[in-house]
Amino acid sequence: MNNRFPEGFLWGAAASGPQLEGAGSKYGKGKTVWDYWFKTEPEKFYQQIGPETTSNFYEQYKEDIESMKEIGFNSFRTSISWARLLPDGKTINPEAVSFYRDVFSRLRNNGVKPITNLYHFDMPYRLHLKGGWENRDTVEEFAHYAKVAFETFGDLVDTWVTFNEPIVPVEMGYLNDKHLPAVYDMGRATQAAYFTLLAHVKAVRAFRESEQTGGIGIILNLTPSYPKSDQEEDREAAKWADIFFNRSFLDPVVLGKYPEEITEFLERESISVLYTEEEIALIKENTVDFLGVNYYQPRRVQRGDKKAGVGLDKYFQSYQWLEARINPHRGWEIYEKGLYDIALNIRDNYRNIPWYVAENGIGVEGEEAFLDEFGEVQDDYRITFMEDHLRWLLKGIGEGSNCYGYHVWTFLDNWSWLNEYKNRYGLLRLDLETQARRKKKSAYWFKQVAETNQLPQ
Ligand code: BG6
Repeated sequence: MNNRFPEGFLWGAAASGPQLEGAGSKYGKGKTVWDYWFKTEPEKFYQQIGPETTSNFYEQYKEDIESMKEIGFNSFRTSISWARLLPDGKTINPEAVSFYRDVFSRLRNNGVKPITNLYHFDMPYRLHLKGGWENRDTVEEFAHYAKVAFETFGDLVDTWVTFNEPIVPVEMGYLNDKHLPAVYDMGRATQAAYFTLLAHVKAVRAFRESEQTGGIGIILNLTPSYPKSDQEEDREAAKWADIFFNRSFLDPVVLGKYPEEITEFLERESISVLYTEEEIALIKENTVDFLGVNYYQPRRVQRGDKKAGVGLDKYFQSYQWLEARINPHRGWEIYEKGLYDIALNIRDNYRNIPWYVAENGIGVEGEEAFLDEFGEVQDDYRITFMEDHLRWLLKGIGEGSNCYGYHVWTFLDNWSWLNEYKNRYGLLRLDLETQARRKKKSAYWFKQVAETNQLPQ
């Protein structure tokens, strides 16, 4: 079996500004919803660790970029912070400009391509106060921010991403209490999702008008939905889960239009969304150049509960597949073949658009238990996780899917929205006390794969 990846394949890691940088209230950065939330309800955060320091990339990026080179990266995707670059929405923060310019230059000088995302769940607090993604003004502010970013860094970055996982703040903030505004309201969720998409589309248009070279895309967390049985009602449930969690963004960004069933859903739920025909035309005209895909786990669904009053339960219900292998630390199913199914879905239904894996990884609690006598984490489970996913990816590529890169989540153990440092994902271990970094066993495995551009036989 072929174990080689296509020539020029991107090998690297993914991260995000708010989870990696730290310096939450330093160097002129404005506040985000996370800074505010931690201040007001710290007990919601695991071990009460907030977003202030995180992994201190802001102050240690020079050595971190050296480490990226050492472990064979030719690509690194992270996000810039809206609140850092434009603390009041208008004035450009010069410290942010020097920081990001130096990061991008150093990455390039070390042979690492910067893939730069504009938004990773980090709504500026001042905009949150005005309704965040429920307010049309946020769309215009985002388009302005995107334009400033293209103009300020466009000579160093040629691959831009508008959003990471735009469905997540919608689901977690409007159908759950895990992100702000922490409400349950399907109508507000739908409006927020629509304005997020519009902000994406306006940023894509700003990119095309800016005469930049390179490309622009979006990163979606695609979760293949598998029905419990072959019966009509279970298959229908899988279709709806796919529409809500994948196709609600995937179809408009790649194909330029929403799935027809969305209209049926809005009518059935009596939801009205503020939109204009001009905006629908913009969506059609501004599809992406490429897609980033985050994949961790699939969704197992069964028929909906017709009697359910509110919510998505009417359309589908999740269930625990008995044969599932669950990562006990995170509770997420491990199903490598899902990546292959995604690859073929993109090939067959999404114009075989160029795409890359933008995140894939395993979070593990208590990794200190795997430290060897020399202080190195022996994370064989992470190696197995990556290798198994990469084999299925390779099969998808062999069958014609246009995938050109793989980014593990993540480079260095980092802070997370819900679990802070509970589950560790990095190729490098972070000592929270000293902020010292240390390569794990998986970093050496990754280096070998990246540098040879192939999996071990
Ligand atoms: C992805 C997000 O969905 O999952 C990351 O883009 C996040 O920001 C990652 O950290 C892992 O999730 P968690 O909740 O285990 O940190």
